[in-house]
Amino acid sequence: MTKKRAWTLAVPVMALLLLAAAAYAAGVPAEIKMQAPYEHKKSIAVFTHQKHAEDYKISCGECHHDDKGQPLTNLKEGDPVKKCFDCHNKPGELKGKEAKGLSDKELRAYHANAVHENCLGCHKKYNKENKDKGKAAPQKCEECHPKKAKE
Ligand code: HEC
Ligand code: HEC
Ligand code: HEC
Ligand code: HEC
Repeated sequence: MTKKRAWTLAVPVMALLLLAAAAYAAGVPAEIKMQAPYEHKKSIAVFTHQKHAEDYKISCGECHHDDKGQPLTNLKEGDPVKKCFDCHNKPGELKGKEAKGLSDKELRAYHANAVHENCLGCHKKYNKENKDKGKAAPQKCEECHPKKAKE
């Protein structure tokens, strides 16, 4: 192949690569393992970030907010984004007896309470609104926390 031919091929390939990178927020993995720095009792949920943001067309501010809880509606690719655990930083989920009498805000200090409220809050609403369309977002524990392989 001559040098000139190689270039006529390389240019469109490079243009395609650039387009692909621009189409999805740089640096955000397509899937995020929702591991937080505490001991997890259940298997770690895998969150399909790209599907949620692109295929389901959910805007960034539905899930990302600032230190006052205000939605980050203008979030752009490359912006630094904190982990949920950076602010909702008590380990695990608080429920049952121990959760009694606490306000929503106090409960939300626990990582899993905040995350469940976000994920499940939307899924429940979505399923209610799309009941007759045969669509469903997961609400059952095992759908997000698949059973661990037997040891
Ligand atoms: C349906 C909810 C949801 C939507 C919509 C969403 N995100 Fe996220 N995003 C998350 C969650 C959950 C995480 C993981 C946070 C954690 O690990 O604590 C995350 C992580 C990130 C990260 C950090 C990635 C890393 O490697 O840790 C970036 C950057 C990010 N999101 C940007 C965006 C941008 C930009 C948009 C809009 C185009 C967006 N997100 C839309 C829920 C969402
Ligand atoms: C910079 C700190 C910060 C980060 C990072 C953060 N939150 Fe929050 N969050 C807050 C504050 C402050 C509030 C409002 C006070 C409250 O109710 O706890 C809030 C409120 C909430 C609420 C209730 C109100 C609402 O918007 O629905 C949920 C649910 C929630 N956060 C989930 C999450 C999830 C999931 C993540 C990660 C994708 C996250 N938060 C990341 C600080 C943060
Ligand atoms: C604002 C709405 C919204 C939020 C917040 C949200 N989801 Fe979803 N989720 C959806 C929709 C819509 C679907 C697609 C349902 C369908 O197939 O019709 C979905 C599907 C899923 C699926 C199955 C398909 C796939 O993409 O893997 C999983 C698993 C899932 N969500 C996990 C999560 C987790 C974990 C969180 C929180 C970190 C979360 N979702 C937050 C709206 C949301
Ligand atoms: C829509 C997805 C989703 C569903 C449904 C769901 N969870 Fe979670 N859950 C998460 C995510 C995301 C986290 C954050 C960290 C992680 O993955 O462990 C979490 C965290 C937890 C934690 C704290 C971490 C640990 O493993 O100790 C517990 C406990 C938990 N979930 C129990 C449950 C139970 C019980 C159910 C059913 C009643 C359930 N979850 C349903 C997504 C989900």
